[in-house]
Amino acid sequence: MISLKRPKTDLPWLDEVGLGKTKPYYHTKLGAAFLGDSLAGMKKIPSESVDLVFTSPPFALTRKKEYGNEPIERYLEWFIPFCEEIKRILTPEGSFVLDIGGSWIPGAPVRSMYHFEVAIHLSKMFHLAQDFYWYNPSKLPTPAEWVTVRRVRVKDAINTVWWFSKTEHPEADNRRVLVPYSDSMKSLIKNGYKAKKRPSGHDISKKFGKDNGGAIPSNLLTIANTESNSAYLRLCREFGIKAHPARYPAKLVEFFVDYLLDPDYESLILDPFGGSNVTGSVAEERGHRWLSFEQEDEYMRGSMLRFLEGPLFTDPRVRSVITGESAPRG
Ligand SMILES: C[S@@+](CC[C@H](N)C(=O)[O-])C[C@H]1O[C@@H](n2cnc3c(N)ncnc32)[C@H](O)[C@@H]1O
Repeated sequence: MISLKRPKTDLPWLDEVGLGKTKPYYHTKLGAAFLGDSLAGMKKIPSESVDLVFTSPPFALTRKKEYGNEPIERYLEWFIPFCEEIKRILTPEGSFVLDIGGSWIPGAPVRSMYHFEVAIHLSKMFHLAQDFYWYNPSKLPTPAEWVTVRRVRVKDAINTVWWFSKTEHPEADNRRVLVPYSDSMKSLIKNGYKAKKRPSGHDISKKFGKDNGGAIPSNLLTIANTESNSAYLRLCREFGIKAHPARYPAKLVEFFVDYLLDPDYESLILDPFGGSNVTGSVAEERGHRWLSFEQEDEYMRGSMLRFLEGPLFTDPRVRSVITGESAPRG
């Protein structure tokens, strides 16, 4: 799937989105990944051309990750210019979904409000279509000092996922993300439901017992972020590449791609903080076009592994592109 001819792509639509003259690091059938600063990259993209921006920027963390994180005090100042570009390039009915984790005040068992400040600021630029909460049951108990050593705080296992839009009515359909019915709902559907008023005063009509193919999900998304056996991690080990330390699970991206994009159209999805390019790989798998920016070369090389298939990864030329070593001659 990966093309090794890097200078030119066979993606004619890159011209339409202003990136025809920018050399992608790699491209696939449906998308292209660019190494470098996404703020500069997004400035090349014409207005109203991206249907969904799905991303997770570096959070303002007390303990910095290896790719650098902005301190809490400077976070908004750093992040807002990216959001201004995102607003400009989004189509009128498009969505901007932002996965952003919370943070602690350095040296104290006290929470920062920075991710709420981001939401408040952005709700003045966009509409907050809905707030989502991603619960990761496999989250580690940190900060260790407060959670496992002094035992005065509990695990912080929720990331806020803010869904912003330019209009009050962005493209969305919850029928595309139905979840299995609970056992009690299944038996209601099977045995019928007597319409009556609830103690809360809500009038539950007969329609309640109808089988709609699944239940409407809530804004609490429970998705364990465990993938110790994933193809990506196995191939990272195989090629001696450091895996990205802050990946989100594909299921999180899949939920919003399915919910917010019409599957009958080939939409364009952008991730300005691509990391290991989970977003691009979900877009590819769902048949949507994608663009991804990442500023670290090693994460970019690792992200190519998400698109390798079958015998490709034993090809010495592919190996040399990914490991950065020169290819064997002949
Ligand atoms: C939280 S990680 C994204 C992880 C990604 N969602 C995944 O699942 O692999 C944020 C990424 O943004 C990258 N980054 C930070 N500033 C950037 C910029 N100005 N342009 C492009 N990438 C940037 C960092 O190197 C880091 O890999």
